[in-house]
Parts: sequence; structure tokens; C-alpha cells
Amino acid sequence: MPSFPESSSFPEKADLYLLFEFLRFRSISTKPDHAPEMKRCAAWLQDLLNGGGFKAEVAETGGHPAVLAHGPKIAGRPTVLIYGHYDVQPDDPAELWTTPAFEPAIRNGHIFARGASDDKGPILAHILGAIRTLREEGALPVNLIFLIEGEEEVGSTHLAEFIRARRSELRCDVIAVSDTGMVGPGYPTLTQSLRGIAAMEVVVNGPVLDLHSGVFGGAVMNPATALVHLLSRLHNDDGRIAVPGFYDNVTPPTLMEREALAALPLKEADFQRDTGVLLLTGEPDFTTLERIGIRPTAEINGLTSGYQGEGTKTVLPSRASAKLTFRLVPNQTPSRVLDLVEIFFRHHQPPSVEMEIIRGHGGMPYTLDARSPWGAAAVRALEKTFGRSPALMREGGSIPIVQTFQDLLGSETLLLGLAPPGSRAHAPDENFPLENLELGIRLHQALLTELAVR
Ligand code: BES
Ligand code: ZN
Repeated sequence: MPSFPESSSFPEKADLYLLFEFLRFRSISTKPDHAPEMKRCAAWLQDLLNGGGFKAEVAETGGHPAVLAHGPKIAGRPTVLIYGHYDVQPDDPAELWTTPAFEPAIRNGHIFARGASDDKGPILAHILGAIRTLREEGALPVNLIFLIEGEEEVGSTHLAEFIRARRSELRCDVIAVSDTGMVGPGYPTLTQSLRGIAAMEVVVNGPVLDLHSGVFGGAVMNPATALVHLLSRLHNDDGRIAVPGFYDNVTPPTLMEREALAALPLKEADFQRDTGVLLLTGEPDFTTLERIGIRPTAEINGLTSGYQGEGTKTVLPSRASAKLTFRLVPNQTPSRVLDLVEIFFRHHQPPSVEMEIIRGHGGMPYTLDARSPWGAAAVRALEKTFGRSPALMREGGSIPIVQTFQDLLGSETLLLGLAPPGSRAHAPDENFPLENLELGIRLHQALLTELAVR
């Protein structure tokens, strides 16, 4: 392992060593052939938790396993559930990484690896925080449960059923999650809302086989053309989503919400710089933070058809497909949004092609009341750890299980992010500041202390 500067904000060597080990697992949940690696990663977490004073199991869910662990029981204290995920996104495009995604490397005080900030670094900080408290104090201030799943990045498809089945064992007073962002390095952040999500794949089938585009082109509808026509209808020229009913019941932001977002230390110029785009665009009359945080969207995540190799090939492809996701805000539901989009696509479908619509995962949006007693405890813990009061953020990303926790367990979720801007989640060179491992450990300890006396 490389050497790193000694300072109070750097993690202990043993903790850093564990992060290296954790990051080496290629726990890519979307790839079926990675299932054995998922199991090994879950078993590693189980061993770590068992060795640290928890009773941990690798629990079958019907999909990739979840790790469930209970700390020592203490009567009269609240029960806190910490949720996180050990699965990660694929590393592709792998060639764009400075160092390989599953060979963690330290540069400029950051650890680079797939999953470093999303979510292995942050969830490990919670585990190590709990283990440190048990080692140093002999007891935790609350009853603590860890639920670390392996399917967050694919929509937590089996977790709701698992929670239903184990509901009595998962009963808790409050849930804490560090799987969101920070508004700046060293700037504590409590996330107030997450967007929901609905996924869909559209497959357009034309001729029974790929055709010579010179022999048949012009007389046979090209599925790629049909698909891009359909997809181009999703947005109006001004950037609004054109699907009738899409914005029904979406409440416009209040002046207070808009002011709060505008006051965050995140500026348009930062987004411009971080993304490298020529111009930031989106729904008219909304700022970038509003477009990301509180407005619904439609995105094409993947588009496939025809010849993709070097050079040219004069082919009229037999099929074309697109993967889409919609980000949802309060009063939208995945099933209704997918219904509306399907009706819209069917209405505009050319009669010359077949269209298959495959529905994917869905998750509800979530909003936290930061002024609840639990929210206030989280604010105090963030203040104590970072030495300044937290920003209240609205995140555009989704953690589908969070609203399900509310529905099935009746507990609210505190979202205490540890990933600063520049963490590059889902992108090449994903990284996590080393100091955030140590800060995350202390945040966990402060959080449990504050939740115990809330
Ligand atoms: N950690 C993210 C969620 C997130 C991202 C929160 C950015 C706040 C800011 C999480 O692991 C994630 O990426 N979730 C997926 C969920 C989807 C695959 C169902 C997402 O948002 O795309
Ligand atoms: Zn995550």
C-alpha cells in the first residue's frame, strides 16, 4: 500500500487497508456473471462485522445477497438502521481510467476506484465508526442494525420483499444513509430530497434480418430512423418533456425552496466546469440546481442499432433499441409515468415497424423533514464533525429503497452525504477523499451519540 501523509484527518492505516480490500471486489451488480464476486464481497463484509462485535449474516434476497448485522442490544435506547450498498456500477469505459477501476490507487489525497464514493467508502466509514466505538467504549449508544445490499445500482429489485419478510427484525426508529453528495469539500450536507426513477427499454423491430441498405433502403423503414424519430419527440425544442400528462400534479417550487437552492454554494459555473459542456441547458425558467434537484426529467441512457465497428458498413439494421430512465419528483409514480410514455410512443409508432416496450425498475421520490427531531440530531452531528452547519441539499439521484423504508418500516431516512463534487460516481476515475473516511467514521460516532439523546 502506498504511504500517505500523517495527519489527524487521515484514516488509520488499518482502516485504509480495509478500504483497499473492499474496493478490489468487482461487485458489479448488473453483470450476471459477477454473482460469485458479489457473494465474496458480501462474505467479506460479514466477516468484518462479525469480527467487530456484530452478529452478521449474508442473507438471501432472491437476487444478490444483502448483509444484515445487529449490534449488541441495549434496552431503552433507540434503534438506528444504517443502509448502504456494496454493489457498484460497471467500470466501462475502462480505457478512460487513469489507473484500473478495481486496483485502488491514491493520488492527491484521494483514493481512486469504482465504488470509492458510491458507496463503499461511505458505508465502510459507518462500519468502522461503529467498530471503533465498540472497541474504545465497549458499547454503542443505540441499538444498531446494518443493512448493506447488493442491488442498489440495479433498482433494489428484491429488497422490498426482503424487508417485508424480515420486517420485525428490521424495525427501527430512524435510518441513516451516506450515499449522497456534499456541496463542497469539507462542507457538511444533509440531503432533503431524492428524485424517484422509472426505467424503460424501447425495442423497434423492422425487417427479419439486417438488409443491404442500397438494395432495400428507401423502401423499408429503418428501425434506427423510427426509433430516433420517437425519441426526438420526448422533449419539445425548448427542453420541456412533451409526453402529455407528464407534469400533472408536479407542484411548482415555492419561493422559499427556490431561494434555499440559490443560496447553496454550488454555482452554475461549477457545473459548467465539471461537465465541460459548451452550455448548460434544460427546462426553461429553472436554474441548473432546480433542473437537477426538483424537476422531473427524461434521459436516454443508451442507444443501440446497426454497425458500430471501424469504418463503414452499408446496412439497414433489423432492430434498434434505447434504454431510458425518467427521474421523478413528488406526486409522480413510476407506473403512471411509464404508462404515459408508453401511450405516447404507441401513438407515434410508425405502422411499418414493431415496437416492444420493456419496463424496468422503479423507485419513488423521497422528501425528509429536516426539522424533525431526527433531522435536528443529524444537523448537530454534521456540525460537530465538520465544524460548520450543514447545507440542505436536494439531490437529483435516486436511492429507490428510501421511500420503501418509510412505507414498510414507518421510519424516516437521514441522508448524510460524504461524496464531494468531483467524486465522479458512475464515471471513470471515481474517487473518494481519504479524509472523508476518517470524517465519515467520526460522523457515524457523532450521529449515534446525537440520535441516542434526540
Ligand atoms: N448514490 C447514488 C444515488 C445518488 C446519486 C444520490 C447522486 C445523490 C446524488 C446511487 O448509488 C445511485 O446511483 N442510484 C441509482 C439508482 C438507480 C439505478 C435505480 C441512480 O440514481 O441512478
Ligand atoms: Zn450509491
